[in-house]
Amino acid sequence: MPFLSFPSGFQWGVATASYQIEGAVREDGRGVSIWDTFCYQPGRIHGGETGDVACDHYHRYLEDLDLMKALGIQAYRFSIAWPRVYSFGDGPVNEEGLAFYDRLVDAMLERGIHPAVTLYHWDLPQALQDRGGWTNRQTAYDFAAYAKTVYDRLGDRVDRWITLNEPWVFTQFGHRLGFMAPGWQDLAATGRANHHAMLAHGLAVRAFREGGYRGEIGITNSNTSYEPADDSAASLAATELARDFDARLFHGPVFGRGYPPSVLKYYAERGAAFPIEAGDMQLIAAPTDFLGVNLYSRQRIEADPAGDTGFRPAAPTLPLLPMGYEAAPHSLGDFLRWVTQEYDRPRIYITENGVCDNTEPGPGGEIDDRTRVDLLRGFLAGVHGAMQDGADVHAFYHWSFMDNFEWAFGFSNRFGLVHTDYQTLERTPKRSAAFFSDLIRRNGLDV
Ligand code: FCB
Repeated sequence: MPFLSFPSGFQWGVATASYQIEGAVREDGRGVSIWDTFCYQPGRIHGGETGDVACDHYHRYLEDLDLMKALGIQAYRFSIAWPRVYSFGDGPVNEEGLAFYDRLVDAMLERGIHPAVTLYHWDLPQALQDRGGWTNRQTAYDFAAYAKTVYDRLGDRVDRWITLNEPWVFTQFGHRLGFMAPGWQDLAATGRANHHAMLAHGLAVRAFREGGYRGEIGITNSNTSYEPADDSAASLAATELARDFDARLFHGPVFGRGYPPSVLKYYAERGAAFPIEAGDMQLIAAPTDFLGVNLYSRQRIEADPAGDTGFRPAAPTLPLLPMGYEAAPHSLGDFLRWVTQEYDRPRIYITENGVCDNTEPGPGGEIDDRTRVDLLRGFLAGVHGAMQDGADVHAFYHWSFMDNFEWAFGFSNRFGLVHTDYQTLERTPKRSAAFFSDLIRRNGLDV
């Protein structure tokens, strides 16, 4: 078995998000978020589940950090719940909410775990949603003010910041397709939310630079590796179009290339033009220090001449995982090569990658999540290969540390290295946790 060794200093971490793990939604002055509201609407979430308790991480964070340390995990990407810091989105700071993240960061540093903070992983304060949420330009300014409060408070100890997690997902799924909060199906709202989210990113980067904080800042986009279904010119063109509507829509403006004209035209022709004002694109293009890459799978693309966008996913040809993703471990390396070429070799942190594998404990309590381990091995070999081809990757954060509230799928889909028993809240490391721990210890893996 060949051993793939990673460069020394490569960082191995895990990732989570506030609403998916914290619970304690009514404690210490936390305001209501759009996910609290959404989960209480009948029919939205698998089994009517909510994040009210989730993994109860708010109370068990020390136990969780101890477990991370025991596994040798070097870095932890977590998100801050905006409604803990500002219960109503703006107005007075909620000191008790902010204090939780103080304790969390201190406890990480005591254990030698390097923090990476995501400022927005989808739990918008409901009070802002009541004023239009991301469709309201003011939300972008409120976000920058919230970001500044957090930089001021944690910036002496945190040196890696991620503005937004996956704007494609919360704009498209939240505003156009409706299966995530706020649950709208409105193209005009989607165009507005899209632009205001990117403006929020730009304003938060500006606030970071102007404040002279130490460390680095970037954005995390969701990604799918698109492959033409065949080598016809039509499939190749459709694949480029798919990239316009996904990767280029969010990377383009950050790297100073603006939104893809094909996407702007699509929205404008349907009365849903992006509300771009003078100076916005320069703000959004404010230089960042790294690109956060989240990726779970690939999609084969074919032309759809009669369809709305002109492209569509072709039938999957690989086995499907529970979330509907194709089991395609080559997709991560492929995407890293693509993004490296397209945007002139940005510095990359893989801020999420992982596998949905719902293996339950066996008779002796062991959790033998072989599918996760096998696919992870393939994903990591892909990262290694892409790095040899020139991709500038410095960190890998596994999604997720522990099984958690998987949005509209509720607790039915599991992504953790650590199993969560939602009755007892007991945490049990899986086979994949041992694999990951070994990978870190050896800074490499056998393939
Ligand atoms: C990503 C999200 C993360 C989790 C994983 C499975 O899109 O950022 O919160 O849901 O998918």
